[in-house]
Amino acid sequence: MNQSRYANSVQLNDQGQLRHFLTLEGLDRELLTEILNTADSFVDMSAQSVKKVPLLRGKTVVNLFFENSTRTRSTFELAAKRLSADVLNLDIKSSATSKGETLRDTLWNLQAMASDMFVVRHSDSGAAHFIAEHVTPGVAIINAGDGRHAHPTQAMLDMVTIRRHKGDFSQLKVAIVGDILHSRVARSQIHVLNTLGAGEVRVVGPKTLLPKYIETLGVTVCYDLDEGLRDVDVVIMLRLQTERMASAFLPSQGEFYKLYGLSRERLALAKPDAIVMHPGPINRGVEIESEVADGCQSMILKQVGYGVATRMAVMSMAMSGQTTQ
Ligand code: CP
Repeated sequence: MNQSRYANSVQLNDQGQLRHFLTLEGLDRELLTEILNTADSFVDMSAQSVKKVPLLRGKTVVNLFFENSTRTRSTFELAAKRLSADVLNLDIKSSATSKGETLRDTLWNLQAMASDMFVVRHSDSGAAHFIAEHVTPGVAIINAGDGRHAHPTQAMLDMVTIRRHKGDFSQLKVAIVGDILHSRVARSQIHVLNTLGAGEVRVVGPKTLLPKYIETLGVTVCYDLDEGLRDVDVVIMLRLQTERMASAFLPSQGEFYKLYGLSRERLALAKPDAIVMHPGPINRGVEIESEVADGCQSMILKQVGYGVATRMAVMSMAMSGQTTQ
């Protein structure tokens, strides 16, 4: 069985509905569109004075973040609360993990407290998948980022942003710029953009920060930023993920900014109405100039807002996929 069929055998139920959310690789356009439509309805709801719905009332959601996070953790917590769930944020630094408890034992103990859903971020690729294979049936696992592998809810909130602000994917040229090699976000974005039929997906960066054979994922490779930005509708900037770099991939951050940093002048090479995105955290003056990050084409804070709605969509769909098997 190939990798995406195997992932789907774990994350989908017999009717093809989500029961876990581990990766976008192999999910079909129909299901991805259903997530986008559901997220859109929650975006509209978040503009109302009462932002809560009872879809997860009586359910318990546990946030298990073994790696640091600001946006993902906070938006998952808010999303669970807006769905009326009870939320437990396990503080990993003060947990029994420091006494040598394994991931599996931590999970089994939290499961014994009748938890219904775990949102998992881990530095090991495959951690969320491993957990999904070891939980009791009826408990949902949501991948909040695993190593370099996948960050599926980030990529989906990025698609919500693109669809709301640019429309039809088939008409769009998208450039993903920077440290693609260490980026789980880029991998998930490439899968979903291709499945949704994006006109062109370009990856732009130095050879040392582009994975070998990346073109086999259906992207155009550019080593030159000016060439990569020309006439695109969407620019997605990525930070240098130094925490995942085992050795030096670049002469210096200053050199990287000179060659790959997004300045106002460089952004002018894209279409005049191009949008600028970044999953965050941003490093001003390293991959993006402040004037661009805070400028009128920037969607960076809108992305964060759509993150709550997107996570509400995924959590409610995964919970509903538990009961209809
Ligand atoms: N985009 C993202 O995953 O940000 P955090 O690390 O703050 O969650």
